[in-house]
Amino acid sequence: MYLVKNEPKKLDIWDEEFIKRHDVAGPRYTSYPTALQFHEEFSRQNYLDAVERSNNRKRPLSIYVHLPFCESLCYYCACNKVITKDQDKMRRYLDNLIKEIEYVAKPFAENRPVYQMHWGGGTPTYFDGPELTELWYQISRHFHLVGPDRGEFSIEIDPRTIDTDKLGLLKGLGFNRLSFGIQDFDEKVQKAINRIQPLSMIEDLVKEARDYQYESLNFDLIYGLPHQTVKSVNRTIEKVIDLSPDRISLFNYAHLPQRFKSQGQMNEEALPLAGEKLQIMCAASSRLVEAGYVYVGMDHFAKPSDELSIALKNEQLHRNFQGYTTFKEADLIAVGVSSISQIDNVYCQNSKSIRDYEQALIDGESPIVAGVELTPDDDIRRDVIMSIICHNKLNKAEIESAHGIDFDSYFATEEKRLVEYAEQGLLKITSFGYQITPKGRLAVRKVCMVFDSYLSEHAKSGNRYSRII
Ligand SMILES: C[S@@+](CC[C@H](N)C(=O)[O-])C[C@H]1O[C@@H](n2cnc3c(N)ncnc32)[C@H](O)[C@@H]1O
Ligand code: SF4
Repeated sequence: MYLVKNEPKKLDIWDEEFIKRHDVAGPRYTSYPTALQFHEEFSRQNYLDAVERSNNRKRPLSIYVHLPFCESLCYYCACNKVITKDQDKMRRYLDNLIKEIEYVAKPFAENRPVYQMHWGGGTPTYFDGPELTELWYQISRHFHLVGPDRGEFSIEIDPRTIDTDKLGLLKGLGFNRLSFGIQDFDEKVQKAINRIQPLSMIEDLVKEARDYQYESLNFDLIYGLPHQTVKSVNRTIEKVIDLSPDRISLFNYAHLPQRFKSQGQMNEEALPLAGEKLQIMCAASSRLVEAGYVYVGMDHFAKPSDELSIALKNEQLHRNFQGYTTFKEADLIAVGVSSISQIDNVYCQNSKSIRDYEQALIDGESPIVAGVELTPDDDIRRDVIMSIICHNKLNKAEIESAHGIDFDSYFATEEKRLVEYAEQGLLKITSFGYQITPKGRLAVRKVCMVFDSYLSEHAKSGNRYSRII
């Protein structure tokens, strides 16, 4: 009963040899083209034209709000965050964010329903209750949020920044989904990453969240952290299974100490070696599937009753900057420093510097600093890549009818590579096109990379992506 079509009951088919062979560094395809393709020539007019097309198409909307502040530093962190105790700084950011919301809302047609909203960070719940209330109120003044019975309203929570009252307040505002940063329950690991949060704290929080009848709880976990072993992570996974969150993100620790200086504060020698990291990932993933979770794709697991698993089964899964989502046709409006919007056929990004972001808003200007408008070829390739990464298959006839091309001649070179991958067991050639094998799912981005026309350009400029393992 826990299985999705073609879903293996166990993931121990992921043998070490196979994964080592296909462990590539590559984009995570939360967009195509990826952010490396965004450029500064992208103009305000490009943006406004996209909004107009979006208004004409009347697609539903999704909103992302970036709240970058945290009280203390987790050494492993690779998020866009600012560690501060300066309340004035946070207040100033909030004032500018509210200005941005008003500015962004103007060109959008009134009453376009917003079915999904996510507040991420940093740590959104580091803002106090009145500030969170003010922010929700300002968004609802400018956008038509559907009721919590019809939409998904989620927020990322550092368990150390929340209590029962704030949990109640968030529910009262309209949030119906919570995502908790758990990472690992092991005390030694928690100490090494500078993030102490006892199991009892999480147990209480989960109980309270259930009392408030939140629809869905997500846990973020990381493998590859200092002092983790197969045994220690197994213990964490057993506790996670007991607490029974609806969704689990099992992230591969991205260790980039040149870029994220704080990672250098952890003892490199305590990090598990590549072989052990792989074993940790295989053991943890297999155990989650054995306990009834569905492997949705790239890092994500969900209960069979969860919308993500249902969307996977019905081939309605989509992917955007928050990872997998069920809202395929929505345009994404992102506000806050560094956030990325996806509107009609454009992607655009706000300034990554808080100073520049705020100055633009003080000057009454847009904080968007870069973007890209998809060419017709980008559009075709985006469809192909999203189909592979979300549905684990490629239906040639669907791409042909959506874009008016002859697949075999358009992608003659790419298909030669797919034949090689079929021989290696990553995919199968079928009557409709290609199907990723259960084994190949872990290396799905390697298959997507075949269709990415910008990869060689990035390789030349020395840009590095994270690896699967
Ligand atoms: C913005 S944080 C979550 C919200 C909140 N700040 C917290 O820590 O609980 C998003 C998630 O990214 C993941 N993350 C952060 N740095 C990472 C890294 N270097 N490698 C892999 N995952 C990472 C963590 O699992 C974290 O929970
Ligand atoms: S993991 Fe979360 S709480 Fe920790 S520094 Fe990163 S964003 Fe802040």
